[in-house]
Amino acid sequence: MKGYFIQIICFSFLLCSCFGTLTQNYELSDSYVRVLFRKWIDRNNRDYPSIEEYQYRMTIFKENYIKILKMNEIFEEDMSFEANKFADMTEEEFQQKILMKSQPPPVHPKSRYIRIPDEIKQQLPDEFDWRTQKAVTPVKDQGSVGTCWAFSTVQNVESQWFLRNNNSMLTNLSVEQVVDCDGMQNPVTSQADCGVYGGWPFLAFQYLIAQGGIANETVYSYCSGLKTPCEPCNAPGYNDSLCGPPIPFCYIKDSCESKLDVTKFVPGLKVVDWKAIEEDEETIAAALMTIGPLSVALNAEMLQFYHKGIFDPRLCNPKNLDHAVLLVGFGIEGKKPYWIVKNSWGVKWGEGGYFRILRGKGVCGINTQVTSAVLE
Ligand SMILES: *[C@@H]1O[C@H](CO)[C@@H](O)[C@H](O)[C@H]1NC(C)=O
Ligand SMILES: *[C@@H]1O[C@H](CO)[C@@H](O)[C@H](O)[C@H]1NC(C)=O
Ligand SMILES: *[C@@H]1O[C@H](CO)[C@@H](O)[C@H](O)[C@H]1NC(C)=O
Ligand SMILES: *[C@@H]1O[C@H](CO)[C@@H](O)[C@H](O)[C@H]1NC(C)=O
Repeated sequence: MKGYFIQIICFSFLLCSCFGTLTQNYELSDSYVRVLFRKWIDRNNRDYPSIEEYQYRMTIFKENYIKILKMNEIFEEDMSFEANKFADMTEEEFQQKILMKSQPPPVHPKSRYIRIPDEIKQQLPDEFDWRTQKAVTPVKDQGSVGTCWAFSTVQNVESQWFLRNNNSMLTNLSVEQVVDCDGMQNPVTSQADCGVYGGWPFLAFQYLIAQGGIANETVYSYCSGLKTPCEPCNAPGYNDSLCGPPIPFCYIKDSCESKLDVTKFVPGLKVVDWKAIEEDEETIAAALMTIGPLSVALNAEMLQFYHKGIFDPRLCNPKNLDHAVLLVGFGIEGKKPYWIVKNSWGVKWGEGGYFRILRGKGVCGINTQVTSAVLE
């Protein structure tokens, strides 16, 4: 809640003071909004349960639409925003449902951090992209729950598996297994994996090590955030005081204890360790090239309506991590270096499911929680 209000204050401040007066008039007539909203509903397949809900969502849509127009004026040359599938959600709902409770980046013991040889850092190319080597699975959609951390983790493992097998066997692995079965926690630092309520990739790697394997997506499919979602019970080890109250209602048949079948794990795939990468972004680029796509986290408050361009919202606290994603490449446009990041909000979001973010300035904390699994 607190973060939300600070964000509102910062955002209003940003609109009013930092960038001078806006030139456009953003009054929209109700009839115009009604037409826009109708088209948006058709595009996004929305169906509201009541007239009241419809009206309420239209009010939110209008506020968001105006906000998007303003942001597009402010950030004109750098990036653009659009009324995407999140346009009927308030910033607060977006934060609570899609993102995770924001937390500062965990610092790991020194021995976790990989040393990258200086030669590699000194000879970085202008561009690099694991997608061109077919090392990245298609973009996924987490739906309306906070499971980004499981996607980030599993997608790192997918790419590691591909690279470990001489660049073959690119396989969609089971995100749902991690969501349902991973109840890892570190009570000393107050970090925990909490299913649809969020988690940390580094803890999820620890879960995969302890579990001894992972099923593929066909065997144990994603269902948590879907339109008719499954209702799994909380993972074994779920900690109420770290994660919040457990899910009020759940089915055993949808849960880890019913679905997990270790005999169906992908043969030979074993996570045996995990590593962290230091915050220096040249080190991260070198690590990306030598290791493969990396799990990263960031403050994603302003990412809700991102459409395209190099994301750099200027006011973005790097200590408030609330979203986990996959770093797959980097490049430079004009004079601006950027990272290429795979998101889990579907292919229609952003640049084909991806976003680019300014590289080298620690934007939104993108460099503060970089980790990777190590496979046997
Ligand atoms: C890896 O792939 C290359 C090129 O396809 C092939 O020449 C090589 O024998 C493969 N190595 C292994 C260990 O499979
Ligand atoms: C992997 O997942 C994507 C997105 O869900 C899907 O389009 C694709 O067909 C899957 N690939 C395989 C080999 O199952
Ligand atoms: C849950 O977390 C709390 C707070 O960090 C800790 O004191 C407690 O031991 C944990 N409970 C379990 C069952 O691990
Ligand atoms: C998924 O795993 C099952 C069981 O091990 C296997 O039969 C199937 O071929 C695998 N599918 C893919 C797409 O890897």
